[in-house]
Amino acid sequence: MPGDSTTAVHGGEATDPRSGAVNVPVTLSTTYRYPELEDGSKAPYIYSRYTNPSLESVEAKLAALEGAKHSLLFASGMAAIQAACQTLLKPGDVLAVQRGVYGGTSAYLRDELAQWGVQVAPFDAHTKPALTKGTKLVWIESVTNPLLRVADVPLWAKAAHAAGAKLAVDATFASPLLQRPLAMGADLVMHSATKYLGGHSDVTAGALSTNDAALAESLFLRRRNLGPTLDPHAAYLLGRGMKTLALRMERHSASALALAKAASAMKGIAAVHYPGLPGHSDHAIAKRMLKGGFGGMLTLDLGTLKRAQAFRQKVRVIVPAASLGGVESLVSLPIETSHAYATPASRKADGIGDGLVRVSVGIEDLADLVADLKRGLA
Ligand SMILES: Cc1ncc(COP(=O)(O)O)c(C=O)c1O
Repeated sequence: MPGDSTTAVHGGEATDPRSGAVNVPVTLSTTYRYPELEDGSKAPYIYSRYTNPSLESVEAKLAALEGAKHSLLFASGMAAIQAACQTLLKPGDVLAVQRGVYGGTSAYLRDELAQWGVQVAPFDAHTKPALTKGTKLVWIESVTNPLLRVADVPLWAKAAHAAGAKLAVDATFASPLLQRPLAMGADLVMHSATKYLGGHSDVTAGALSTNDAALAESLFLRRRNLGPTLDPHAAYLLGRGMKTLALRMERHSASALALAKAASAMKGIAAVHYPGLPGHSDHAIAKRMLKGGFGGMLTLDLGTLKRAQAFRQKVRVIVPAASLGGVESLVSLPIETSHAYATPASRKADGIGDGLVRVSVGIEDLADLVADLKRGLA
């Protein structure tokens, strides 16, 4: 895709404008010389919670990747979700949310936003759009966890706009390399930058991007008022990780596809969920929604919880841990993590079997990963 360069940034912020340093220095100062200068002009920075040079250089990089006019960084993905919801909704409004979104998002909507007077209306993103009256925001995910269902972004953008609502897409699983929802009609894109954007499981961060200047301004105010601004150290780590995003996504996608194919031919696996396989229920949609690969997430159905737990214990390369999107492969069992608090009946209704094993495929040698898969199944 044009504009995929993860190292260059339009506007020159990829290098330090003062020293020319190839890596933009971390600016730790919390405060800046008084904003009104002697010549009457305004200095760009006031106080680091509002914004600071470390944040802005990474935000410019993200905006270039996302094809967005504005990007804002937050202290976590959840902080970005909260800022988005509290900017686009007010008490009495309806938020339509795709069924099966990240558990933390569901918990925030149920435990926080609903208390604030917003009606949360779950919907199935794989049926014909029919939004509840009063819907002001529609929230979907590019690729869901753990069955890796792929939503039709333009379809939901059209439905949201026809209802007078905005569409927000949590594109964490796709990353801006595989999907740019703003170009598909979305109004807002959210990332848990803790995952693929950071890429090394060593920084917690969130991001929001939009082409709407008024919305960006409101999000900026929300971040200033609520205070979840990303720390400059964390911004530096995030920016460093983003430099290799294109290389990593290429490898994550290629290895996940190869593993999915290898797993499909192995005995002892009841089902392989990967949107790049022709047998996946959303393969046709995925081909339209994801460009340059189908991502690094892969879910295997081993039939029973006992077999899933045995897999997790036997693997040696793949690390048993929550989260995703890092250079190292991780395995987790949805029944113990994302769906631990769902009732057996609701898990069944959502197709979450007891034997599911979710693998975040890293960038290790493919032969080692295939051998580890066999080891886990033995
Ligand atoms: C799809 C998705 N959205 C949002 C989040 C929340 O992000 P964070 O953990 O950075 O707050 C996560 C975290 O796992 C996620 O997987």
